[in-house]
Amino acid sequence: MRLKKISINKKNINLSNQIDIKRIPDHIAIIMDGNGRWATKKGLPRSFGHNQGVSALKEIIKVSKNLGCKVLTVYAFSTENWSRPNKEVDFLINLFEKVLKKEINEIHQESIKIKFIGDLSPFPETLKSVLNSSEALTRNNKNFILNVCVNYGGRQELVKVAQEIAKKSFSGEIKPCDVNEELIKSELLTQGVQDPELLIRTSGEKRISNFLLWQLAYSEIYISEVLWPDFDESEFFKAIIDYQSRNRRFGGIESLANESLKDSYCSS
Ligand code: FPP
Repeated sequence: MRLKKISINKKNINLSNQIDIKRIPDHIAIIMDGNGRWATKKGLPRSFGHNQGVSALKEIIKVSKNLGCKVLTVYAFSTENWSRPNKEVDFLINLFEKVLKKEINEIHQESIKIKFIGDLSPFPETLKSVLNSSEALTRNNKNFILNVCVNYGGRQELVKVAQEIAKKSFSGEIKPCDVNEELIKSELLTQGVQDPELLIRTSGEKRISNFLLWQLAYSEIYISEVLWPDFDESEFFKAIIDYQSRNRRFGGIESLANESLKDSYCSS
């Protein structure tokens, strides 16, 4: 049993024993919510919550990779987040740059391929250059994929897909009847990566908030009451245990074994 070999916090052994290592989701998506509330509750500026959110993310990357998950997709900055006060937007932009500069070598050593999903064009050149060089450095890594959604919106992604398909149809490259699910999938920003089996949202909010609207069609949703900075190994284990208790029917009547999902996995 691989679980026993990896380093697990002793207090979580009971939880880890409840996990079936053969049924770990290949792809987990996370809406990391509650940084601001975490800080406010402690009488601290919201920026403290975001800093602490980075530590939580680092822990969850490690834990999910150790468990055998292959892809983690996290929502770091939505298209709607620009409406926050300038001070907070600037803080987040600087934080992304600072964290990546500090962590990218370790990410690379761990053979993690990092990808940024979203429209990067409005970001400052310095950040864009760090995002692009991080992707380039880790492009051939094979152990794990970390998708970081920045300036991402699910509706905007689908509008872009529709525009690309319309262009192809207008130029005669395809006919309207060629438009099918496969074609749409091939135009998504997540193309080449299977859909998430599990979506985790923290802080008790029960919304998808414009995240991966196409890709989450059949994902199991786990809502954690814990605020993101407090989401740790034990909370992650609870999400996996809950996921493994579900009967995934995909609109049918019998559960499809995860093996059949694994067949559809292909990395870009
Ligand atoms: C949601 O909490 C969190 C965010 C908008 C930012 C998440 C970003 C990180 C954890 C940093 C990630 C860093 C890298 C390099 C990927 P909120 O501010 O909406 O909290 P609230 O709902 O309590 O106000």
